[in-house]
Amino acid sequence: MDWGMQNRISRIIKPASGRTVMLAVDHGYFMGPTTGLEKLGRAVKPLLPYADTLMLTRGALRYYIDPGVDVPITLRMSGGTSILNKQLLHEGSVCSMEDAVRLNVSCVAFSILVGAEYERDTILAFTKMVDEARSYGIPSLCVTAVGRDMVRDARYMALASRMGAELGADIVKTYYVEGFRKVVESCPVPVVIAGGKKIPERDALQMAHDAISAGAAGVDMGRNIFQAENPVAMIQAVRAVVHENAGVDDAYGLYRSLKSKLGAKAKPRAKAKAKPRAKVRAGR
Ligand code: R5P
Repeated sequence: MDWGMQNRISRIIKPASGRTVMLAVDHGYFMGPTTGLEKLGRAVKPLLPYADTLMLTRGALRYYIDPGVDVPITLRMSGGTSILNKQLLHEGSVCSMEDAVRLNVSCVAFSILVGAEYERDTILAFTKMVDEARSYGIPSLCVTAVGRDMVRDARYMALASRMGAELGADIVKTYYVEGFRKVVESCPVPVVIAGGKKIPERDALQMAHDAISAGAAGVDMGRNIFQAENPVAMIQAVRAVVHENAGVDDAYGLYRSLKSKLGAKAKPRAKAKAKPRAKVRAGR
């Protein structure tokens, strides 16, 4: 592998543990001002010391993040539909590789929707991005998006993840499902899990733990961190699971003790009110 490519991957997947805590805050590209990210810069700043990479859009990067920060950037390169559109996830390229290079990113991310009628569009656009990214030594993250009506099991996730890798991904992001080991073992590149919708903190730590135990290289987690009652405590607990093999009880104990030390937010975050009209939605 090219030195630049390897160097960029090593900035994200830490060589000491072979794992990564990716902080996903790219939700605005189809969800707008997601709960917890209304003031993205303010929400993310205290989390940055604990994030191995920050995954976001070019707009969020330019408008909300100080260029002086020392965190590798994973740039979302796909989009084109909103949560209001029934063809959500029929994504194409929404950012040029030149702009990604200008932004000095360490990785580029693109969603494919395997099994949907427009899967071909997303796959061809993804592979075009991979070719462009490779020419600059930038690794590609394939997000295996899942429509609402699609079966979410290890067989499907393994199929989509393996396809992502064989089509050129250097890292695959998918969803945790029962039998996750099958997904990891049949994918030749590191696999990370998305967090999905907000669930209780202990359950999110359990999911991260189960994924790591099954061989995942880490998490690319968003809402279960930034919508936690105390996001700074939560990301540290997630780190303990990912990088230190902490058990769920220990990680949750760490979360609770940090939360009481740092102080819980005055008011727990409410769930987003907007109900999407789309029939096919991300598994998010
Ligand atoms: C999904 O494709 C987006 O990239 C989100 O960033 C991703 O789903 C991770 O966020 P969450 O943990 O909130 O699902």
